[in-house]
Amino acid sequence: MNEIKLQEFMGRLVVDMGGAALMATVILGEELGLYRAMADGRPIAADALAQRTGCHPRLVREWLNAQAAAGYVELEGEPGAERFRLPPEQAMALADENSPVYVAGGAVVLASMYLDRDKIAAAMRGDGALAWGDHDACLFRGTERFFRPGYRANLVSQWLPALDGVVTKLERGAKVADVGCGHGASTVVLAQAYPNTRFDGYDYHAPSIEQARQRAAQAGVAANTTFAQASAKGYPGDDYDLVCFFDCLHDMGDPVGAARHAHAALKPGGTVLLVEPYANDTLQQNLNPVGRLFYAASTCICTPNSLSQEVGLGLGAQAGERRLRHVFMDAGFASFRRATETPFNLVLEARKAA
Ligand SMILES: C[S@@+](CC[C@H](N)C(=O)[O-])C[C@H]1O[C@@H](n2cnc3c(N)ncnc32)[C@H](O)[C@@H]1O
Repeated sequence: MNEIKLQEFMGRLVVDMGGAALMATVILGEELGLYRAMADGRPIAADALAQRTGCHPRLVREWLNAQAAAGYVELEGEPGAERFRLPPEQAMALADENSPVYVAGGAVVLASMYLDRDKIAAAMRGDGALAWGDHDACLFRGTERFFRPGYRANLVSQWLPALDGVVTKLERGAKVADVGCGHGASTVVLAQAYPNTRFDGYDYHAPSIEQARQRAAQAGVAANTTFAQASAKGYPGDDYDLVCFFDCLHDMGDPVGAARHAHAALKPGGTVLLVEPYANDTLQQNLNPVGRLFYAASTCICTPNSLSQEVGLGLGAQAGERRLRHVFMDAGFASFRRATETPFNLVLEARKAA
């Protein structure tokens, strides 16, 4: 036993436990509007923030102390006369829902991992299965809010232009399936950008489909969207120009079956847009901050969901391009390539022969 290594590891655990505890305060800060109330970047005293948000002054002071200790807010003033400031960079991540790096809304996904721990433990002791719809409902809304900033920032400006000939088709008027669409975050972004194209959202989770329909109506894109409850191997149609899988293929029990169904649903020359969490091909290459976040979420959410469905391949959220290529080549696609990427996303293109 090496005393120095032990101390280093204990220090590391304090950091990680602090992060896990702090995420609960991030969720509170988002839900109670505390970050938004500080978004002007001006220093504010705890009592003034409490008054601005209608929250209890003593608890707001303690919340601010935690934010200051984490470096999420900056501290000014002498002891007893402290004021707290949310810097613009932190405001982008924590207060501005329209920013490309907004994470506060998605932090509630982490809460679902704690809330559902008894079910996850039962899956680990049993057959490994825990279906998406059996999680606490905060997962569904959290997932929407976790992924939406990335879709808003990248989908139309970066990802679609990286695909071969797809933008021209969408501008002219095409037919698109958004498979595993959840609350329709991606469907709405697409439908707003391409009013001549029809977007059909499918998901096997009925409450998500109902939410997606409402989101599309609120966003004013009801006219060029439809939503239906259907599995990735069961939706209708054989004349799609584009079939999309946004952060959902690895959640499925039978990704090859889903890819084969997409192949049958596409016109000749049609395209699959596959967006998956960024990952390298081996575990050894994924031992990094993105890998630890996604492996942890995948243990509690993605992999048990896959094991709850037929085939139960259990790809996991760090599948990597090589395994995903096998899925699409096995399903009969003519080509597969990495179209582009972000630090958090692999953006892959599969083409059906013309
Ligand atoms: C991580 S969520 C992503 C949702 C959405 N695409 C997004 O990016 O916000 C995965 C989604 O896949 C759906 N799903 C999982 N297995 C499915 C299947 N076999 N058929 C259809 N949908 C499925 C889940 O219900 C869930 O909505």
